[in-house]
Amino acid sequence: LIASFQPKLLAGKKLLITAGPTFEAIDPVRGITNHSSGKMGFAIARAAQEAGAEVTLIAGPVHLPTPPHVRRIDVQSAQQMFDAVLPQAPLHDVFVATAAVADWRPAVMNEHKIKKDGKKLAPSFELTENPDILAAVASLPDKPWCVGFAAESQDLLTHAREKLLRKNVPLIVGNLGPATFGRDDNTLVLVDAAGHRELPAGDKLALARQLVAEIARRTAGV
Ligand code: CTP
Ligand code: CA
Repeated sequence: LIASFQPKLLAGKKLLITAGPTFEAIDPVRGITNHSSGKMGFAIARAAQEAGAEVTLIAGPVHLPTPPHVRRIDVQSAQQMFDAVLPQAPLHDVFVATAAVADWRPAVMNEHKIKKDGKKLAPSFELTENPDILAAVASLPDKPWCVGFAAESQDLLTHAREKLLRKNVPLIVGNLGPATFGRDDNTLVLVDAAGHRELPAGDKLALARQLVAEIARRTAGV
């Protein structure tokens, strides 16, 4: 009975979350993407909403239902995700970047489908770098408290620490793959300036709830 009168962990906080892959068009029927399922970001959105936060979820192309009472904005490309996130960021207290943003996009998007047309050579594509959404948000003057993710196939702690510094964020959540990528259960490690701590293993919703509690603790009074 008493517990029901306690304020929720994230009551009054606004969270902005990116999730899923991005899709970078080559022509109207083809593109470059990756296997991110979006499940972790959607689980964090759900856990944060359940903890009392107002949640905005910016999602790349995924096949997942929107968690209850979460505001969702769908995008395709990294540039569209950037354009959706940047104006929202200063309106939120916390930004959690779980999206697997494509690092590069084709330098030109062909207006029409590229045809074989008896060409002798396979086409080759010039790539250009996409903007770093997390780094851009973390360099805003009125930036929210930022959490990055790092999915690595080796040297997780080294890479996570490097991202903490390069992106200038207070917390990186590390995930060592590829065994765990796309699976429902997972192990996450929290990396900050002071060190690192592994979260007890669990399914994505259990991990999301732990992460939400961690964010609430670290942003209390911010
Ligand atoms: N990220 C982002 N925008 C990008 C690339 C990454 O917002 N264009 C965010 C991701 O959502 C994640 C964090 O930055 O929270 C780390 O992403 P990652 O791909 O691991 O880092 P990169 O800087 O792209 O480095 P690399 O892919 O070379 O490891
Ligand atoms: Ca990357």
